[in-house]
Amino acid sequence: MKFDFDKVYDRKNTNSLKWDFAIERHHSPDELPMWVADMDFPSPEPIGEALIKASSFGFFGYTEPGDPDRRIVSEWYDRRHGFKPDPDSIIFTPGTVFGLTVAILAFTNPDDAVMISEPVYYPFSEAVIDNGRKLVRNTLILGEDGKYSFDFDSFEKQIVEENVKIYLLCSPHNPVGRVWTEDELRRIGEITLKHNVLVVADEIHADFVYEDNYFISFPSLSDEIGNNTILCTAPSKTFNTAGLQISPIMIFDSDKRRIYKKKLGAIGYSQVDYLALEAMKAAYTKCDEWVDALVDYIHENILYMEGFVKERLPELKMIHPQGTYLTWVDFSELGLNSRDLERLIREDAKLWLDAGFIFGKSGDGFQRFNLAAPRKLIEDALERLERAVIAIRK
Ligand SMILES: Cc1ncc(COP(=O)(O)O)c(C=O)c1O
Repeated sequence: MKFDFDKVYDRKNTNSLKWDFAIERHHSPDELPMWVADMDFPSPEPIGEALIKASSFGFFGYTEPGDPDRRIVSEWYDRRHGFKPDPDSIIFTPGTVFGLTVAILAFTNPDDAVMISEPVYYPFSEAVIDNGRKLVRNTLILGEDGKYSFDFDSFEKQIVEENVKIYLLCSPHNPVGRVWTEDELRRIGEITLKHNVLVVADEIHADFVYEDNYFISFPSLSDEIGNNTILCTAPSKTFNTAGLQISPIMIFDSDKRRIYKKKLGAIGYSQVDYLALEAMKAAYTKCDEWVDALVDYIHENILYMEGFVKERLPELKMIHPQGTYLTWVDFSELGLNSRDLERLIREDAKLWLDAGFIFGKSGDGFQRFNLAAPRKLIEDALERLERAVIAIRK
């Protein structure tokens, strides 16, 4: 095998948020961490090589991305997702959450309504509430087929009744693993255009899509939809470079781009991180084959876990992810309240997962697992969980 995703590395004592800060975050150091979306695979070699080359030169001055850097991002999207954004639309920020927060600040006033569809990546609600905007919680519906979808009637009703100004779209959707279809995205596009709601689309998980699912970039649907979209992405999920902060934000309408840039300056951000830019360039130009192999490996992890849960943990229901490297698992059949479920996961199974309720009320009774890890760690985690569940089985 060309890339060895099976190798387990000891990441302790590297300032790793995932591996080194259990005590500070009120967890026990013997809990196996499968929470934060950070992969237990080293980044592809061309990234390390680019960083060594860039740092050995010894200059770390102010750094400005140029047109070729914007073209690299645009060409990645074109090659991987069949959509070639105009390179001039791209603005660089240090992070996706940072980028979407700037959009909220730039295009809403205090107390304006911003809508999200829960359960969803929890920094979305924090970005709204912590900036004094009104959070509108739309809820995704879990069907009998184990698939989440939009209830477009309530989606539109809430937009109208709450006078929503921005909709934060998560595509593919963390934590429920949906890769939204063209029909679903078009419906979102139609409703938001009809009611003059700006869409901030977080597409950070776009490179992780499985089976016959197909990722469609939201602004690619039409010029009208594109001009009403702020697209936020980053190389950090795909290449495991969250510690190298750079995030391309695409804004297709020139007036919106001007307003966004003004806000970005007003909050004090100007130049990009020199090493992060070098890493991004290597990532988007030299690592396609690695990403293909990575996605295959994670897909195998998903299938492995699914088989394990079906056979050995039949009380649990795993939502089959169409995309992302996260899985969303329903523990409600165990009949535990939130506190007892946390105790089971943390104290009995010795796992550090993300509890479902932090993604919104409808996530209560669920847990989110991160499957971007060597198979051995996934096996270890599932065996820990099995032992804990067996102990409480009636
Ligand atoms: C949907 C989503 N957006 C954004 C991020 C974080 O991006 P960044 O580190 O660029 O802020 C994550 C990380 O898990 C995520 O799942």
